[in-house]
Amino acid sequence: MKVPLILVNFKSYQEASAEKALTLAKICEDISREHKVTIIPIPQFFDLQKVKENVKIPVFGQHVDPIEKAGSFTGHVVAENLKTIGIDGTLINHSERKLPLKDVGECVRITRKFGLISVCCAATPNEGEKIARFSPDFIAIEPPELIGTGISVSTAKPQVVTSGIEKIKKINAQIKVLCGAGITTWEDVKRALELGTVGVLVASGIVKAENPKEVLEGFAKTINSFIRLREDMF
Ligand code: G3P
Repeated sequence: MKVPLILVNFKSYQEASAEKALTLAKICEDISREHKVTIIPIPQFFDLQKVKENVKIPVFGQHVDPIEKAGSFTGHVVAENLKTIGIDGTLINHSERKLPLKDVGECVRITRKFGLISVCCAATPNEGEKIARFSPDFIAIEPPELIGTGISVSTAKPQVVTSGIEKIKKINAQIKVLCGAGITTWEDVKRALELGTVGVLVASGIVKAENPKEVLEGFAKTINSFIRLREDMF
Protein backbone atom coordinates (compact mmCIF):
# COMPACT_ATOMS: atom_id res chain seq x y z
CA MET A 1 0.00 0.00 0.00
CA LYS A 2 1.47 3.29 -1.14
CA VAL A 3 2.32 5.82 1.56
CA PRO A 4 1.88 8.59 2.61
CA LEU A 5 -1.83 7.99 2.89
CA ILE A 6 -5.02 9.48 4.26
CA LEU A 7 -7.52 7.45 6.28
CA VAL A 8 -10.96 9.01 6.51
CA ASN A 9 -12.93 7.70 9.48
CA PHE A 10 -16.67 8.22 8.95
CA LYS A 11 -17.34 7.40 12.65
CA SER A 12 -21.09 7.46 13.31
CA TYR A 13 -21.65 10.85 11.72
CA GLN A 14 -24.96 11.31 9.94
CA GLU A 15 -23.08 13.37 7.37
CA ALA A 16 -21.34 10.13 6.36
CA SER A 17 -24.14 7.64 6.78
CA ALA A 18 -26.22 5.64 4.25
CA GLU A 19 -26.31 7.42 0.85
CA LYS A 20 -23.98 10.09 2.19
CA ALA A 21 -21.42 7.39 2.96
CA LEU A 22 -21.30 6.51 -0.70
CA THR A 23 -21.03 10.15 -1.73
CA LEU A 24 -18.09 10.71 0.60
CA ALA A 25 -16.41 7.46 -0.45
CA LYS A 26 -16.73 8.52 -4.09
CA ILE A 27 -15.06 11.81 -3.24
CA CYS A 28 -12.21 9.82 -1.65
CA GLU A 29 -11.98 7.74 -4.82
CA ASP A 30 -11.98 10.76 -7.16
CA ILE A 31 -9.28 12.60 -5.25
CA SER A 32 -7.25 9.43 -4.85
CA ARG A 33 -7.32 8.74 -8.58
CA GLU A 34 -6.72 12.33 -9.65
CA HIS A 35 -3.75 12.91 -7.33
CA LYS A 36 -2.46 9.31 -7.11
CA VAL A 37 -2.55 9.37 -3.33
CA THR A 38 -3.85 6.48 -1.23
CA ILE A 39 -7.11 7.55 0.43
CA ILE A 40 -9.08 5.02 2.43
CA PRO A 41 -12.68 5.55 3.51
CA ILE A 42 -13.74 3.92 6.81
CA PRO A 43 -17.54 3.81 6.73
CA GLN A 44 -20.00 2.57 9.33
CA PHE A 45 -20.54 -1.19 9.26
CA PHE A 46 -23.94 -1.19 7.61
CA ASP A 47 -22.50 0.89 4.75
CA LEU A 48 -19.35 -1.16 4.23
CA GLN A 49 -20.53 -3.59 1.60
CA LYS A 50 -22.31 -0.97 -0.49
CA VAL A 51 -19.25 1.30 -0.41
CA LYS A 52 -16.86 -1.54 -1.21
CA GLU A 53 -18.96 -2.59 -4.20
CA ASN A 54 -19.01 0.91 -5.62
CA VAL A 55 -15.47 2.21 -5.30
CA LYS A 56 -12.14 0.97 -6.59
CA ILE A 57 -10.03 2.02 -3.63
CA PRO A 58 -9.32 0.13 -0.39
CA VAL A 59 -12.05 0.31 2.24
CA PHE A 60 -11.50 -0.33 5.96
CA GLY A 61 -13.76 -1.18 8.90
CA GLN A 62 -13.87 0.86 12.10
CA HIS A 63 -13.40 -1.99 14.57
CA VAL A 64 -12.96 -5.72 14.88
CA ASP A 65 -13.46 -8.07 17.81
CA PRO A 66 -10.95 -10.72 18.91
CA ILE A 67 -12.91 -13.58 17.32
CA GLU A 68 -11.15 -16.07 15.13
CA LYS A 69 -14.03 -18.06 13.72
CA ALA A 70 -17.32 -16.61 12.50
CA GLY A 71 -20.33 -17.98 14.37
CA SER A 72 -22.50 -17.35 17.38
CA PHE A 73 -21.40 -13.80 18.32
CA THR A 74 -24.33 -11.39 18.33
CA GLY A 75 -23.35 -7.77 17.77
CA HIS A 76 -19.70 -8.52 17.20
CA VAL A 77 -17.48 -7.71 14.25
CA VAL A 78 -15.63 -10.72 12.90
CA ALA A 79 -12.53 -10.36 10.69
CA GLU A 80 -13.44 -13.42 8.63
CA ASN A 81 -16.74 -11.80 7.63
CA LEU A 82 -15.10 -8.48 6.78
CA LYS A 83 -12.82 -10.41 4.45
CA THR A 84 -15.78 -12.17 2.84
CA ILE A 85 -17.21 -8.86 1.62
CA GLY A 86 -13.81 -7.73 0.33
CA ILE A 87 -12.85 -5.29 3.07
CA ASP A 88 -9.14 -4.48 2.99
CA GLY A 89 -8.30 -3.61 6.58
CA THR A 90 -9.57 -2.33 9.88
CA LEU A 91 -9.02 0.06 12.73
CA ILE A 92 -8.32 -1.68 16.03
CA ASN A 93 -8.50 -0.08 19.48
CA HIS A 94 -9.81 3.32 18.41
CA SER A 95 -10.16 5.44 21.55
CA GLU A 96 -13.93 5.48 20.98
CA ARG A 97 -13.90 1.66 20.75
CA LYS A 98 -11.17 0.69 23.15
CA LEU A 99 -10.02 -2.91 23.71
CA PRO A 100 -7.94 -4.49 26.50
CA LEU A 101 -4.30 -4.77 25.41
CA LYS A 102 -4.38 -8.56 25.08
CA ASP A 103 -7.40 -8.29 22.78
CA VAL A 104 -5.54 -5.79 20.61
CA GLY A 105 -2.85 -8.43 20.16
CA GLU A 106 -5.44 -11.06 19.30
CA CYS A 107 -7.09 -8.76 16.77
CA VAL A 108 -3.76 -8.06 15.07
CA ARG A 109 -3.05 -11.77 14.86
CA ILE A 110 -6.51 -12.61 13.50
CA THR A 111 -6.58 -9.79 10.96
CA ARG A 112 -3.16 -10.91 9.71
CA LYS A 113 -4.49 -14.45 9.35
CA PHE A 114 -7.30 -13.17 7.13
CA GLY A 115 -5.08 -10.83 5.11
CA LEU A 116 -6.58 -7.64 6.49
CA ILE A 117 -4.38 -4.59 7.07
CA SER A 118 -4.30 -3.62 10.73
CA VAL A 119 -4.29 -0.01 11.93
CA CYS A 120 -4.07 0.08 15.71
CA CYS A 121 -4.76 3.33 17.51
CA ALA A 122 -2.65 4.37 20.47
CA ALA A 123 -3.64 7.22 22.79
CA THR A 124 -0.09 7.76 24.05
CA PRO A 125 3.48 6.95 23.02
CA ASN A 126 3.60 4.34 25.82
CA GLU A 127 0.50 2.61 24.52
CA GLY A 128 2.06 2.73 21.04
CA GLU A 129 5.15 1.01 22.40
CA LYS A 130 3.07 -1.79 23.95
CA ILE A 131 1.03 -2.29 20.79
CA ALA A 132 4.19 -2.33 18.65
CA ARG A 133 5.06 -5.69 20.22
CA PHE A 134 2.13 -7.19 18.26
CA SER A 135 3.61 -5.89 14.96
CA PRO A 136 0.51 -4.39 13.36
CA ASP A 137 0.90 -2.86 9.90
CA PHE A 138 0.20 0.67 11.15
CA ILE A 139 -0.08 2.43 14.49
CA ALA A 140 -2.00 5.71 14.59
CA ILE A 141 -1.10 7.96 17.49
CA GLU A 142 -4.24 9.79 18.57
CA PRO A 143 -4.41 11.71 21.85
CA PRO A 144 -8.14 11.43 22.68
CA GLU A 145 -8.32 14.89 24.22
CA LEU A 146 -7.74 16.47 20.78
CA ILE A 147 -10.21 14.32 18.84
CA GLY A 148 -12.91 16.42 17.21
CA THR A 149 -11.46 19.68 18.54
CA GLY A 150 -9.98 21.02 15.31
CA ILE A 151 -6.72 21.42 17.24
CA SER A 152 -4.27 19.18 15.48
CA VAL A 153 -2.01 16.72 17.26
CA SER A 154 0.75 17.49 14.76
CA THR A 155 0.68 21.19 15.61
CA ALA A 156 -0.40 21.22 19.26
CA LYS A 157 1.40 18.10 20.52
CA PRO A 158 4.25 17.34 18.11
CA GLN A 159 6.28 15.75 20.90
CA VAL A 160 3.58 13.09 21.35
CA VAL A 161 3.99 12.16 17.70
CA THR A 162 7.79 12.15 17.66
CA SER A 163 8.08 10.26 20.91
CA GLY A 164 5.47 7.76 19.68
CA ILE A 165 7.42 7.19 16.47
CA GLU A 166 10.64 6.70 18.41
CA LYS A 167 9.18 4.21 20.87
CA ILE A 168 7.35 2.24 18.20
CA LYS A 169 10.32 2.07 15.81
CA LYS A 170 12.58 0.87 18.62
CA ILE A 171 10.34 -2.17 19.01
CA ASN A 172 9.73 -2.76 15.31
CA ALA A 173 11.09 -0.43 12.63
CA GLN A 174 8.75 -1.94 10.01
CA ILE A 175 5.60 -0.55 11.61
CA LYS A 176 4.30 2.49 9.78
CA VAL A 177 3.20 5.33 12.02
CA LEU A 178 0.29 7.69 11.42
CA CYS A 179 -1.16 10.43 13.56
CA GLY A 180 -4.67 11.70 14.07
CA ALA A 181 -6.87 13.94 16.21
CA GLY A 182 -7.88 17.44 15.20
CA ILE A 183 -6.36 17.24 11.70
CA THR A 184 -8.22 19.95 9.80
CA THR A 185 -5.96 21.84 7.41
CA TRP A 186 -3.32 20.96 4.84
CA GLU A 187 -0.78 22.55 7.19
CA ASP A 188 -1.69 19.92 9.80
CA VAL A 189 -0.97 17.21 7.23
CA LYS A 190 2.34 18.81 6.22
CA ARG A 191 3.37 19.01 9.87
CA ALA A 192 2.40 15.36 10.43
CA LEU A 193 4.68 14.30 7.56
CA GLU A 194 7.52 16.55 8.72
CA LEU A 195 7.35 14.87 12.12
CA GLY A 196 7.99 11.52 10.44
CA THR A 197 4.56 9.94 10.05
CA VAL A 198 3.40 8.29 6.83
CA GLY A 199 0.01 9.95 6.88
CA VAL A 200 -3.04 10.94 8.85
CA LEU A 201 -6.20 9.47 10.32
CA VAL A 202 -8.90 12.13 10.05
CA ALA A 203 -12.64 12.32 10.74
CA SER A 204 -14.45 15.59 11.47
CA GLY A 205 -12.02 17.71 9.43
CA ILE A 206 -13.36 15.96 6.31
CA VAL A 207 -16.76 14.56 7.28
CA LYS A 208 -18.03 17.82 8.74
CA ALA A 209 -16.25 20.18 6.35
CA GLU A 210 -18.42 22.52 4.30
CA ASN A 211 -16.63 21.22 1.22
CA PRO A 212 -15.03 17.82 1.96
CA LYS A 213 -13.73 17.51 -1.60
CA GLU A 214 -11.82 20.77 -1.40
CA VAL A 215 -10.26 19.89 1.98
CA LEU A 216 -9.32 16.37 0.89
CA GLU A 217 -7.82 17.72 -2.31
CA GLY A 218 -5.69 20.10 -0.24
CA PHE A 219 -4.47 17.13 1.83
CA ALA A 220 -3.61 15.12 -1.29
CA LYS A 221 -1.72 18.02 -2.88
CA THR A 222 0.22 18.51 0.36
CA ILE A 223 1.26 14.87 0.31
CA ASN A 224 2.46 15.15 -3.27
CA SER A 225 4.45 18.33 -2.60
CA PHE A 226 6.02 16.62 0.39
CA ILE A 227 6.93 13.55 -1.66
CA ARG A 228 8.60 15.77 -4.27
CA LEU A 229 10.74 17.40 -1.58
CA ARG A 230 11.55 14.23 0.33
CA GLU A 231 11.74 11.51 -2.28
CA ASP A 232 14.32 9.68 -0.19
CA MET A 233 11.78 9.02 2.57
CA PHE A 234 9.19 7.11 0.58
O1 G3P B 1 -10.20 8.30 13.84
C1 G3P B 1 -9.99 9.65 13.65
C2 G3P B 1 -10.12 10.43 14.84
O2 G3P B 1 -10.44 9.88 16.03
C3 G3P B 1 -9.79 11.84 14.81
O3 G3P B 1 -11.01 12.49 14.80
O4 G3P B 1 -12.49 14.33 14.25
O5 G3P B 1 -10.33 14.78 15.39
O6 G3P B 1 -10.34 14.06 13.00
P1 G3P B 1 -11.03 14.00 14.33
